[in-house]
Amino acid sequence: MTAQLIDGVALSRQIRTELAQRAAALTSRGHTPGLAVILVGDNPASQVYVRNKVKACHDTGLHSVLEQYPASMSEAELLARVRALNEDASIHGILVQLPLPAHIDAHKVIETISPLKDVDGFHVASAGALMVGQEGFKPCTPYGCMQMLKAIGCDPRGKHAVVIGRSNIVGKPMAMLLLQANATVTVCHSATPDLAQHTRQADIVVAAVGKRNVLTADMVKPGAVVIDVGMNRNDEGKLCGDVDFDGVREVASWITPVPGGVGPMTITMLLVNTVEAAERVAAAA
Ligand code: GUN
Repeated sequence: MTAQLIDGVALSRQIRTELAQRAAALTSRGHTPGLAVILVGDNPASQVYVRNKVKACHDTGLHSVLEQYPASMSEAELLARVRALNEDASIHGILVQLPLPAHIDAHKVIETISPLKDVDGFHVASAGALMVGQEGFKPCTPYGCMQMLKAIGCDPRGKHAVVIGRSNIVGKPMAMLLLQANATVTVCHSATPDLAQHTRQADIVVAAVGKRNVLTADMVKPGAVVIDVGMNRNDEGKLCGDVDFDGVREVASWITPVPGGVGPMTITMLLVNTVEAAERVAAAA
C-alpha cells in the first residue's frame, strides 16, 4: 500500500479562503482582526517564520504589525511592549517569536500576554483551558494536525494514537487534543525504552521530536495515519521531517509530507485563532 498524501498547502488554502470572508465581515463592522508579532534578535530562522506570518495576515485581510528589536532589548522593555499591546484595541492577537535571547525569561513574557490575545496558545491559562476542556486558544501546530485528521475523515474516537515528543508547544497539547477527541493516547519521549513497541500498535502516529528518522517503516502498523511535525535538514541540506518518508509511505494509509504538510497549517491556525479573537471582541461590543 502506498499512502495518500495529506496536503497541508491545499487544506490551508481552503481554510484561508473561508477565513478571508470572516475577516472581511469583521472589517465591515469596524473590527479588522489584528496580529502583533514581536521578534527580538536576529535568528535567521525566526526572521523567515515571522515574515511568513505577517505575509499570511496580509494575504487573508488581517491587519498585522511586526515589531523587531535588537537582541540587547531588556526583559523589562519587552514586558512593557507586551502590556501596551494588551491595551491596544486594534490588536487581537499577540505573538512573541521564540526562542528569545537567553537573558529574557520566556515564561514571564508569555504569562504577560493577555489570555484573550494569546493566539499562540502558550499561556498557562490556555494550556489549563485545554486540559479541562474549556474555551481557550489551542496551540497552532497541534490544532493544525487535528484539522488534517478531520480533512481526511479520520475520527480519533476509539483509535490508539501515539505522540512522539512531549514539548509544551506540540507533544503535550497534541495529546490533550487527541484525548478530547476520544482517542486512547500514548505519549512517548526520549526516555521511552522501546518506542517501536508503542508505535506498532498505533492507528495514528504524530512525530514531533525534531530528529530525522525517528519513525521508520518497520515501526508502523499497516494502514496507520502518520503526521510528521518535524522540521530538519538532511545531509544534502534538504528540508525533511522526523519520519523516514519514503519507507513509511509504503506502510501507512495517509502521511503528511515535509515540506507542504504540517508547516503551512501552523500559520493557518494562527490566522484562525486571530480571527476568533477578533470575533469574540466584536460579539462583546
Ligand atoms: N518558534 C517556533 N515556533 C513558534 C510558534 O509557533 N510560536 C512562537 N511564538 N514561536 C515559535
